[in-house]
Amino acid sequence: MISDVDIVVVDDPARVVAERLAATAGAGGHVALAGGSTPRAAYEIAAGLQSNWTAVELWWGDERCVPPDDERSNYRLAKTALLDRVQAGAVHRMRGELGREQGALLYERELGLLERLDLVLLGLGPDGHVASLFPEQPTLDETERRVVGAEAKLEPFVDRITLTLPVLCGAREVLFLVAGSEKAVAARAAFAGDPSRATPGSLVRAQDGRTAAVLDAAAAELLTAA
Ligand code: 6PG
Repeated sequence: MISDVDIVVVDDPARVVAERLAATAGAGGHVALAGGSTPRAAYEIAAGLQSNWTAVELWWGDERCVPPDDERSNYRLAKTALLDRVQAGAVHRMRGELGREQGALLYERELGLLERLDLVLLGLGPDGHVASLFPEQPTLDETERRVVGAEAKLEPFVDRITLTLPVLCGAREVLFLVAGSEKAVAARAAFAGDPSRATPGSLVRAQDGRTAAVLDAAAAELLTAA
């Protein structure tokens, strides 16, 4: 069963996502960036496609509880691959250095009256986690708070701050970027399986908007076979 996700399998998923990010930057709105390693190329390409990001407010889906100049920082990834190369507008960094509880509280306050995000970019962990929402964790049951602290269940084993499911699913557009054969099993579970706490990626769908997953052939191998 293929669920309600637009599955896009291409040779260069980073470019497809970069074009979507650049278009959104031009149109304006609230965009939540993803962490991990896969988005780096997409951010670099997007910076080349659109130099003016003043109309967009940038947020993060999650952050590792490290200083912003730490190589594990999701902010640092976006800064070096995107922000340092464009004219940026408002940048809402998660303050990982404050720790998971204080950092989450501060970001909840920073979200303030924001009703919904326009675009959420998400990666997918080999275990099916998204942002820092890990399989079978109580963070998946959060319905009140928009931001929570989380314990890492995968490298890097540092505490995390993460947006919760209601915020992710409340976005106008949810965009997954997934590459590599090590993600094939998780991609099938997330995009072709039933919603399950064992695969947080299967729980993230834009409630009244578009959900798309952009994958390379290796990550989509088991999906296209489904
Ligand atoms: C994080 C991410 C996380 C990431 C996946 C995939 O902080 O680690 O936000 O959700 O998207 O772990 O990571 P890779 O792109 O490195 O495979």
